[in-house]
Amino acid sequence: MSRTILRGRVLSFISEPQGLDDHASYRYLEDGAVTIEDGKIVAVGDFVADDNAEIIDHRPHLILPGFIDMHLHYVQSQIIASYAGSLLEWLNTYTFVEEQKFSQQGHANAIASSFYDELIRNGTTTAVAYCSSHPRSVDAYFAEAEKRNMLMVGGKVMMDRNAPEALCDTAQSSYDDTKELIGRWHGRGRGLYAVSPRFAITSTPAQMEAAQALVAEHPECYVQTHLSENDAEISFSMELYPNSPDYTGIYEDYGILGPKTLLGHSIHLNHRETRVLAETGSVAVFCPTSNLFLGSGLFDRGRLMQAGVRIGIATDIGGGTNYGLLRTLDEGYKVLQLRGQRLTPFNSFYMATLGNARALSLEGTIGAIAPGNAADLIVINASATPAMALRMATVTTLAEELFLLQTLGDDRSIAEVYVAGARAKSTLGGL
Ligand code: GUN
Ligand code: ZN
Repeated sequence: MSRTILRGRVLSFISEPQGLDDHASYRYLEDGAVTIEDGKIVAVGDFVADDNAEIIDHRPHLILPGFIDMHLHYVQSQIIASYAGSLLEWLNTYTFVEEQKFSQQGHANAIASSFYDELIRNGTTTAVAYCSSHPRSVDAYFAEAEKRNMLMVGGKVMMDRNAPEALCDTAQSSYDDTKELIGRWHGRGRGLYAVSPRFAITSTPAQMEAAQALVAEHPECYVQTHLSENDAEISFSMELYPNSPDYTGIYEDYGILGPKTLLGHSIHLNHRETRVLAETGSVAVFCPTSNLFLGSGLFDRGRLMQAGVRIGIATDIGGGTNYGLLRTLDEGYKVLQLRGQRLTPFNSFYMATLGNARALSLEGTIGAIAPGNAADLIVINASATPAMALRMATVTTLAEELFLLQTLGDDRSIAEVYVAGARAKSTLGGL
């Protein structure tokens, strides 16, 4: 069996940081070694020479767990940066038009390939994505993940109203297609399936019942949907489901909340909704670049955390404006500034790695540099651009370096990416 040792400054989180001085929440090795065998991490510690291993020296860069993106739409890769006012206009003008193209297998395959290249370029080694309503878009998504040996979560969007006919399925076909796709892709390679009713507006009660049945029949799968992103969306949802107490209540009534349920946005929630999310263990997913771009609102991390709600962070491509978690953390910091809340750099990098792994109940598999975990790793350079190098010359602490990385860094800071122990960024075509 071949053994590889990555040498560099190793940083990995152990628990959620309780502030800038919480040095017990992470492990940092100034001259560290990550030993990899068969795609997995087998040892982590201070570097010592080993004649039986291939040694790759990444000093002076940082080695971190690969970033995890909790919510994005691979089928929106070609509508990022589309000029729209707010959510519903953006969906109708660009999104629902664009997603129709995924009825073509060739198109889906080509976009999936470019999408994964972009994830790797930005240091994202695991993501949770929506495909289109076409089953073949899901085939393209998971086939590409399998080819690259990546741990990816995703699913076919279920939507049977308030969208163009060409994009709509039916309650029955969405059930049948989802069932077949779970059988084909869940647990194949590193793929994991997410039952994906798009949101209350595009699902009839009959389709919500179909989703409820799927969730009950497949507790091994994730569930993903959108919740309380925009005021007009909330009003329309309540018109469509007048018997539910609030937006969260719609999903609650159909039994689709729970510890594997990922709720994109979750911005405008009342106290009852917050309590229900906490009680069910559902995950609120913070999508800062999207929320600012579409003017949706300011995620209230402090209130949700106080209520005990699990939280993840995500890009939400293509409502979001950048594939990278670094840019996303920067915008997240600014959203919370506007809320009067502070996000320490340790908390930022925790969220993008171990925090998101925990939100996916995948601690012990990804999100940390620890024996037994997959060797999904990134190498980050805090002096990747002249402006970063200029600032880095004055940096004296790890916290300052992380904050510089999230504030000034982007894909150029991601020096290398390892997926299950194999180099993935330097081997990308066209670089
Ligand atoms: N709500 C329902 N669908 C979508 C989508 O594609 N993007 C965003 N941002 N919100 C949604
Ligand atoms: Zn979304």
